[in-house]
Amino acid sequence: MQVLDGKKTSEDIKKEIAIEVQQMKENGEKVPHLAAVIVGNDGASLTYVGSKVRSCQQIGFDSTLVSLPETITEDELLAKIKELNEDDNLDGFIVQLPLPKHINEEKILLAIDPDKDVDGFHPTNFGKMALDMDTFIPATPFGIMQLLKRYNVDTVGKHTVVIGRSHIVGRPMSILMSRKGNPGDSTVTLTHSRTKNIEEFTKNADIIITALGVPNYLKADMVKDGVVVIDVGITRVADAAHPKGYVITGDVDFDGVSKKSSFITPVPGGVGPMTIAMLLQNTLLARKMRLK
Ligand code: GUN
Repeated sequence: MQVLDGKKTSEDIKKEIAIEVQQMKENGEKVPHLAAVIVGNDGASLTYVGSKVRSCQQIGFDSTLVSLPETITEDELLAKIKELNEDDNLDGFIVQLPLPKHINEEKILLAIDPDKDVDGFHPTNFGKMALDMDTFIPATPFGIMQLLKRYNVDTVGKHTVVIGRSHIVGRPMSILMSRKGNPGDSTVTLTHSRTKNIEEFTKNADIIITALGVPNYLKADMVKDGVVVIDVGITRVADAAHPKGYVITGDVDFDGVSKKSSFITPVPGGVGPMTIAMLLQNTLLARKMRLK
């Protein structure tokens, strides 16, 4: 069994990007600039956005954190997005999800200029991804593809079972794994909350990618020997013994499943850090596209 170390791999990617940024500086060019918009005070979202902004600083990007109150109206948020779209100094931005209930997420995502949509959530970019065109790939699926690539996990002709059909992870993941290439060229089954007898699929899977948000859902008796397991789950589970009062727990019962796996991602330290690295990669791409 080999652990797919997302912490180390993400550091490698960040170092590669930092070298390019250094080169840009030496050439007197503008460095990439990412803005992150956060609405409200959700603890997990604040942590993720904080991490994204800190990573920018670490590798030499410019960054801007736009913190907006929970009470902001949809029109006010749309006005802010228009401002960011028109800000020539900015290469890309993200709006951290989920948004408060009174704001229509779809309307917000549609308002983002696709050329600045480094999350790859705008229909234009999502469509390009599905059609094999160059575009921003959503950061979490992009990070998973990079992990598979850098650890030379062979996915060609394999049966990949994705659990969860979210727009951010499961759905794009199913598309990427079915595209031509390695990683890719998989036969993909996309399972979700309405799938019957999910174990029948997982037991026959060569590769399982879980993005469910149910702690320790995938157990050893649900997988076959030699399986590759990618755990996207990051649920905060209350734990009084821990200084923060919770522990981050994945969808996979790591102790049991790892004994049968050929490759497996840990939580934390697997997919999570890769998401941030690939957001930075997309922002670098946005800067290069704007130069052309
Ligand atoms: N919420 C959970 N994951 C993500 C992500 O990758 N991007 C944004 N904008 N929000 C998220």
